[in-house]
Amino acid sequence: MIQFDHVTQQYDDTVALKNLNLTIESHELFVLVGPSGSGKTTLLKMVNRLNEPTSGRVLIDGENVADHDLNDLRQHIGYVLQTGALFPNMTVEQNAGIELDVLGWKPERKRKRVRDLLNRVGLNPDKFCDRMPSELSGGEAQRVGIVRALAAEPLMILMDEPFSALDPVSRKQLQDLVLQLHEELGITVIFVTHDMSEAMLMADRLAIMRKGELQQCGTPAEVMAKPANEFVRSFFLDRAADSRYLSNIVDAGFGVDLRNNPASSDVSWSRELSASDTVVDLAAAFHAAPRSGVKMGNHLLRQSDLIAYLASISAERKGEEAAK
Ligand SMILES: Nc1ncnc2c1ncn2[C@@H]1O[C@H](COP(=O)(O)OP(=O)(O)OP(=O)(O)O)[C@@H](O)[C@H]1O
Ligand SMILES: [Mg+2]
Repeated sequence: MIQFDHVTQQYDDTVALKNLNLTIESHELFVLVGPSGSGKTTLLKMVNRLNEPTSGRVLIDGENVADHDLNDLRQHIGYVLQTGALFPNMTVEQNAGIELDVLGWKPERKRKRVRDLLNRVGLNPDKFCDRMPSELSGGEAQRVGIVRALAAEPLMILMDEPFSALDPVSRKQLQDLVLQLHEELGITVIFVTHDMSEAMLMADRLAIMRKGELQQCGTPAEVMAKPANEFVRSFFLDRAADSRYLSNIVDAGFGVDLRNNPASSDVSWSRELSASDTVVDLAAAFHAAPRSGVKMGNHLLRQSDLIAYLASISAERKGEEAAK
């Protein structure tokens, strides 16, 4: 468990974090989301002591990180940055195993660990071990960054906007990879993003930040159904999403058509909504019963359909903005 206990970070005239309290449970995939400058990186770096709070404490399993031996602390915390941050003059294998050198792992053991992990993130070790970082795509470099962060069997990994420089396809693949690794390895992941749809897709729970203050913390379904204030509402369910109807979700191809899918005839749903109900109504239904579906006409909608739909309109809107 990681606890931020009344943490404040002051830089000259900027207060980057204001008296913030937050608890992250062990094994969670926890997302910090908020606009640029809201203090996400500042908060994340307090966990591995790249930042020392001006006041307040950060505790891991009840122990103040300030009291930890720094090397020991960082050894148990993997760290993945926006760009792979690989050393350009070292091969993939050398980059991936760099933490293990520090720990004095024998070459054979190190080699095996790196090769296992490369396989796990979808990089064939025979093909990639001897490549240089300049010979990798952005997505491949991020995969190597993830291997490096996992190599020393950390208890948690911190990821600071790890996919924001990637194209949408690589980004989706890596989001899925992190979800899968998180499930398989059961480690705590703290994931920073400024993209609300990425946050919703990834998070067990998320915290929404603004100007150094926590706005809301909860599961995606809770935040979606009951935004704590207007900022959260507009950040998450922006006006575009707000005015969408369930018919739009089905027209966009989400949900299961019960008529074409005999196996789903026995699927239960918690309630029935109509085509003219909005995504906000749908979010509220999922909040009340997160695991069951909602029936709309002949279609069954699940929470994952809503999140995927919101992600798709957010991508669409970004495309429109870029084209302007
Ligand atoms: N070393 C520093 N010295 C002075 N001010 C800083 C320093 N680091 C961060 N800040 C300020 O603290 C505030 C929070 O910064 P932080 O990097 O935590 O934001 P962020 O949420 O990670 O933003 P982004 O999404 O752009 O990465 C910003 O106003 C920033 O300018
Ligand atoms: Mg940042």
